[in-house]
Amino acid sequence: MHKDDVSADALRESEELHRITLINMSDAVFITDDDGVFTFICPNVDVIFGYGPDEVRQVGRISRLLGQELVDRERLAAQGEMKNIEHEIVTKHGVPRAVLVHIKQVAIKRGTTLYVCRDITERKQSEQALRRNEERLSLALDAASMGTWDWHVPSGHMTWSPQTHHIFGDEACTREPSFASFLRLVHPADRDRVAETMTVAMEHAASYETEFRLLGYDNVERWVMGKGKAWKNGKPLRMLGVFVDFSERHRVEQELRELSGRLINAHEQERIRLSRELHDDVAQRVTLLATELGILRRRLESNRADAQEQLARLSAQTGEIGSELHRLSHELHPARLEQIGLEASVRGFCRELSDARHIPIDVEIGDLPATLAEDVRLCLYRIAQEALQNVVKHSGAARAALTLAADGNDVLLRVVDDGDGFDQLAVREKDTLGLVSMRERARLVQGRLSVTSKHREGTRVEVRVPVGAYPASPNAAV
Ligand SMILES: Nc1ncnc2c1ncn2[C@@H]1O[C@H](COP(=O)(O)OP(=O)(O)OP(=O)(O)O)[C@@H](O)[C@H]1O
Ligand SMILES: [Mg+2]
Repeated sequence: MHKDDVSADALRESEELHRITLINMSDAVFITDDDGVFTFICPNVDVIFGYGPDEVRQVGRISRLLGQELVDRERLAAQGEMKNIEHEIVTKHGVPRAVLVHIKQVAIKRGTTLYVCRDITERKQSEQALRRNEERLSLALDAASMGTWDWHVPSGHMTWSPQTHHIFGDEACTREPSFASFLRLVHPADRDRVAETMTVAMEHAASYETEFRLLGYDNVERWVMGKGKAWKNGKPLRMLGVFVDFSERHRVEQELRELSGRLINAHEQERIRLSRELHDDVAQRVTLLATELGILRRRLESNRADAQEQLARLSAQTGEIGSELHRLSHELHPARLEQIGLEASVRGFCRELSDARHIPIDVEIGDLPATLAEDVRLCLYRIAQEALQNVVKHSGAARAALTLAADGNDVLLRVVDDGDGFDQLAVREKDTLGLVSMRERARLVQGRLSVTSKHREGTRVEVRVPVGAYPASPNAAV
């Protein structure tokens, strides 16, 4: 074959290849002269613009196709190209599309300027969706007073979100984040516990949750809940988490606790007043009446047997009313708690209840700490009283048992019955006070109350009160 024929074939092949590449490309390519008039339009232009090559040619200039002059001739002449211009076009069908345009100086196809347009609508939409999600997340985090943090353990590099800086009292977000600086802010009383919790989570690549106080850079004390999760790659790798400022909730809870404490105290004061009234006035007067009735009966040494009998009955009835008033007054306020101590008072109460309601109560009281605060004694006594009253009122049990003893640093009170048991979720709906006030009383002395109950297997009420956590009054007797 002639040499010219060979090179003509090669050229044809190369152009064919070029054409196939252009058709299958998703980018649209144009070449224009210095005035922006098309000298080349790629065959697949409709993929982005909706117009075919002939329609585009009729448009004439690229600025009309793009809706705007994008090229800055001076800059193009100086730099040779303009890259990554983000621009929005409207297609033949009126649909807006985001395109990324590269413009380059060339000298081919009788033109001087090459435009490559890439459709980035989808990328833009997902970027926008991501940004919206991030905005929503950040709004939600803000609304929940929640900050995030991320700690790359090997490098020690840590980041705090702006909200985390705020929780740390660093409004201007200028403090350098690090694990050590975080720990320094944690209240000294909580620091070891927080460090230990996070270290354990790190060692086991586990999650953790803990509450602590924090003294911010602004010297304001805040209550913070920290939640996080650790990842390992053989060695500790990364830890991520959130901080929630719940100072406000803590303050409200504290106020509620104080309020319920005051209510319980007021309740107690009222019972003391009623009990004194009953004991010192009504009960004394009734006892006196019984005595006088007795004297009157003796004076009436007549043979009026019926009158004698009636007087004897009246005197006995009055005596019974007197003892009942005494019992009531003691139940209202266990004056004997102060006089005879917790153990004897609890035993006395169990004996009276057992006799009155015909239910055996096994009482086991171990050694109790030498000094127990008055409030702790009252709390334990009242809980024992309410728990046992619940047993006789509700359980239908054949017997009950009460244990009271020191257990480590706590005093443990347990009341168990073998009765019907009950559904704790269902009774929450009831408007009753017993269980609620047992819990409140326990909380007032930093104790914990737990109730376990199962249908037909009875109920167990347990309260643990730390002995040292509550100041003992100087003359407290057990
Ligand atoms: N030992 C128990 N065995 C079976 N049911 C119980 C027992 N203790 C409590 N309950 C159930 O739990 C409910 C709530 O008890 P709670 O002491 O709060 O109220 P209450 O005894 O009905 O009324 P009060 O306010 O006078 O104490 C009871 O009504 C009863 O149904
Ligand atoms: Mg009750």
